[in-house]
Amino acid sequence: MKGFFPTPAKVVDHMLAKLFANRSPNVDDIILDPGCGKGVFIEGIIRWCDAHRIDLPTIIGVDSNPAHTADAKKLFTDYPSVRIEERDYLRNDKRHYDFIIGNPPYVPITQLSEEEKKYYRKRYKSAIMRFDLYMLFLEEALSQLKEHGRLVFITPEKFTYVDTAKPLRIMLRRMVMEEIEMCDEDTFGQLVAYPAITTAVNEKGFDYPTRLITRSGKNREALLPKDGSSWLPYFTDKLENNHTLTLQDVCLRISCGIATGADSIFIKKTESVLPELKRFAYRTLAGRQINAKKRTMVVEDSMLIPYNRDGTLMKERELGVLGDYLGQEEIRKKLVQRTCARRKPWYAWHENPQFKDTLRPKILAKDITEVPAFMVDATGEIIPRHTVYYIIPKDPSMLQPLADYLNGPEAHAWLKANCQRAASGCLRIQSQVLKRLPVPKEFGPKIQKGQRVIHTSRLENSWDSPKT
Ligand SMILES: C[S@@+](CC[C@H](N)C(=O)[O-])C[C@H]1O[C@@H](n2cnc3c(N)ncnc32)[C@H](O)[C@@H]1O
Repeated sequence: MKGFFPTPAKVVDHMLAKLFANRSPNVDDIILDPGCGKGVFIEGIIRWCDAHRIDLPTIIGVDSNPAHTADAKKLFTDYPSVRIEERDYLRNDKRHYDFIIGNPPYVPITQLSEEEKKYYRKRYKSAIMRFDLYMLFLEEALSQLKEHGRLVFITPEKFTYVDTAKPLRIMLRRMVMEEIEMCDEDTFGQLVAYPAITTAVNEKGFDYPTRLITRSGKNREALLPKDGSSWLPYFTDKLENNHTLTLQDVCLRISCGIATGADSIFIKKTESVLPELKRFAYRTLAGRQINAKKRTMVVEDSMLIPYNRDGTLMKERELGVLGDYLGQEEIRKKLVQRTCARRKPWYAWHENPQFKDTLRPKILAKDITEVPAFMVDATGEIIPRHTVYYIIPKDPSMLQPLADYLNGPEAHAWLKANCQRAASGCLRIQSQVLKRLPVPKEFGPKIQKGQRVIHTSRLENSWDSPKT
């Protein structure tokens, strides 16, 4: 059963109010419900027409699943104006419709056959990169709207910002995009993360701002870009207007942590590190060790590091006991197999560790997270792994206030609106997004009369990092 997520009746009625907001259907109109499932939208249209005492227009429901069409046909036997068609909606439907409403299938590319992928890639402009079937349903439906025709679809919100949906955003902007409403996260229970209801009208030659309704219920209007760039920033609260600085402006570094390329070899439980290896061991933290909801972290591991404090690789003869450990036959074999070992010494990492930055008081955040959480490493002793981002404020006294700001509702709302989502629906924290996060001017440089700017180099020398 590909992508079957039935729409709750309450949502159906809410969407129908949008569909018929400017014009009630008349008996000559044709309404399409592509991917109609068992017919919840058709039931809704009948409810709406009964309540408004108008004759039913022609309603066509299309679904490729025989079990769904059988149920739907049974349900509407007494309604001659309802037609249920069992077919693949994405193959040659040449008709045009006055209204199109639906909840299309959400089917990621990974669940499509090779034949389907090939066919869709040839037929649909939005079948690029890692497309999803709902994007193709939207493209097909847009092409079938009669002039002045209205479309209301509920889909994952992802099409508003993912690169894959760039062609779709361009197509949508050729219509009048009347409204995008971000729906409650639990609209479909746990099944679909972050749904959105889109209302588009086929009015050529007009360009109106789109009404954007955020999850917090706020309404605003924006002329969305036509070039396919992301629409998500237009959903953000007033943050940008209030703050002219970005996180990048007030930080020395916003980066991803260190990748060893062989964590099973270089990462050890701190308590199990042999005394003779302790001088190579640094406390380290992986993303999974941050509990974002509770804002706690468990720092129980150490990283064995064959690099000097200036970031240069130790000579093999300087490694001593670490060399003995890494040189054991099985371990050395694994290290040699890493791609980076083709161009570097066998015990080197993909990238040299930037100790001067990583071993500094800093803010830490896990890369994929349900809620953003920013933790303070006040002593600067934790080495962030590649699943942890680290943020170093220019002004060390701002470490805690900046973390508090990042953990606050304003920054969270901005991150929710601007971060990409992982397949699980979790936020994907990335340095290029963090860098754009607006921050209040209080975090910016404070230069008073007679005061000199503190230079980075002075900060670098102002502390020394401990080892395990
Ligand atoms: C998310 S469900 C929604 C069902 C119904 N519209 C509702 O809201 O309850 C999507 C429906 O699309 C149907 N479907 C999937 N691929 C299809 C295709 N290529 N052509 C037509 N229907 C398809 C599925 O069988 C499923 O019933």
